[in-house]
Amino acid sequence: MPVRTIITPANPILRQKAKKVTTFGPALKTLVDDMVDTMREAPGVGLAAPQVAVSQRVIVIEFAPEPEEGQEPEPPKLYRVINPEIVKASDEMVMGVEGCLSIPGYAGDVERHAAVSVKGFNLQGKPIKIKAEGWLARIFQHEIDHLDGVLLIDRAAKVWKMEGEAPRNTP
Ligand code: CO
Repeated sequence: MPVRTIITPANPILRQKAKKVTTFGPALKTLVDDMVDTMREAPGVGLAAPQVAVSQRVIVIEFAPEPEEGQEPEPPKLYRVINPEIVKASDEMVMGVEGCLSIPGYAGDVERHAAVSVKGFNLQGKPIKIKAEGWLARIFQHEIDHLDGVLLIDRAAKVWKMEGEAPRNTP
């Protein structure tokens, strides 16, 4: 399954509002498989279809929470969500440092909801619902923003050029 090229804001597709998926077939499965490979290769913790120049409402996320002290790390969990939608968001907001695979070399301080509930569909077109909090909630908000052409630089209180390593868990 080929790794696809991750586009930057130089490609206008990144700024378009992506279309809802209406056909749940083999082409969708191929797209999602390629997105998972591309995310892992980057490496990142999330990817939205517009980032590989496909203007459709599809996201993938793979994330393992930081283990508590003295606890075994949990294996990362893979989420593949078609037509995702935030249906509930906490009033509580949290600030955090985010990067983006489409804006390499930059990071920003972005305020996000501390927790969100996301509704969507799996690859078979069956409805799914995910409750996310902490860093996972941040990743979901970042990826769903991509489906509306919104980038972290639009939301960031401050953006800066990174020296050295990308922030952990770049979506
Ligand atoms: Co991004």
